[in-house]
Amino acid sequence: MSIRIDHLTMKFDDVTAVNNINFKIETGELVSLLGPSGCGKSTTLFMLAGIHTPHSGEIYFNDKKVTKITPEKRNIGMVFQNYALYPHMTVLQNVMFPLKMHGVKRRERQKQAMEALELVEIAHLSKRKPSQLSGGQQQRVAIARAIVRKPDVLLLDEPLSNLDAKLRVTMREEIRRIQQELGITTVFVTHDQEEAMSISDRIIVMENGNIIQHGIPNNLYDHPNSEFVADFIGAPQINTFNLKNSELDDTPFAKYLNQEIESIKIRPEHLYVDDKGIPAVITIIEQKGKDTLVVAEHNERKIRFYVEKDHILEVEQNIYLNARDEHVLLFDARGKRVGEAYETEKSY
Ligand SMILES: Nc1ncnc2c1ncn2[C@@H]1O[C@H](COP(=O)(O)OP(=O)(O)OP(=O)(O)O)[C@@H](O)[C@H]1O
Ligand SMILES: [Mg+2]
Repeated sequence: MSIRIDHLTMKFDDVTAVNNINFKIETGELVSLLGPSGCGKSTTLFMLAGIHTPHSGEIYFNDKKVTKITPEKRNIGMVFQNYALYPHMTVLQNVMFPLKMHGVKRRERQKQAMEALELVEIAHLSKRKPSQLSGGQQQRVAIARAIVRKPDVLLLDEPLSNLDAKLRVTMREEIRRIQQELGITTVFVTHDQEEAMSISDRIIVMENGNIIQHGIPNNLYDHPNSEFVADFIGAPQINTFNLKNSELDDTPFAKYLNQEIESIKIRPEHLYVDDKGIPAVITIIEQKGKDTLVVAEHNERKIRFYVEKDHILEVEQNIYLNARDEHVLLFDARGKRVGEAYETEKSY
């Protein structure tokens, strides 16, 4: 099932939660809606689910308009942030519940629910109550319940936010496996850029109800169209230097200063120690196993960069940091990317 969203807007009184957005998701793709709290991710998902009716615009599933169709008739599976399992029911009963609502016979219900539990690898826990499960196991029940009716579309709203860091990684790999095994078109809401980067075929970055950029993960990382995307994607965060306030006068980077350009940004892995560049003093050295993350300061501005493990540096050492021209991203005063004709996908 493909999904197309056409000029969709949702308002709550005077708040425009989603502002005239357009996108298309191909059959079998996993697309993330990524952005900070309040940017309109859940509202978009609720419109896809039919829980909210948009103020204006249309939603199409396989070219069929579904904008005003009720949630039950859309054949979607949804996992909410808090899972919302029924505490008094067993795991099996929880997963059977959507089938019951649709009048599937008891035997068939049980068979399909067990199949879904097998897919998420917790069939052996079918008789337990949700309170007797770990967070990750509860998460698997919620996924089994969402897919048991073989929906055309799977909608996941921050499904991993209640889990600890390690389990989040395991469960996102599991979601990806299940999604690919079923070939199910999936919309995954998250505010965690790393999660979106690792799980998605494509990412839609939102801010204030608008889509800022839309593309495959590596393109967003290498070719951000704005300061917002450059800052939001990547950890540690991209380094920013203001040219207008003379921060980089007397460095090789002063050459970028012109009418249009206000600031430059350089990813931590693109800075290197050289005999010229931005003068800085090392303040922190963090061994990361495979390489070393170094924090240095230049005029109170913190700069993060990587060196190879065997590159010996010391705290309080004075260094120069340089970068190749093609790794310097330029931005204007409004935070828009300047210079490169970066590739961003059209919004259909
Ligand atoms: N039912 C509602 N009534 C009024 N305002 C709402 C309602 N739901 C959402 N909003 C507002 O719409 C905007 C977008 O909210 P939404 O829940 O879509 O954000 P989000 O991106 O999912 O954020 P989070 O990451 O915190 O879940 C916010 O300003 C929010 O306060
Ligand atoms: Mg939300």
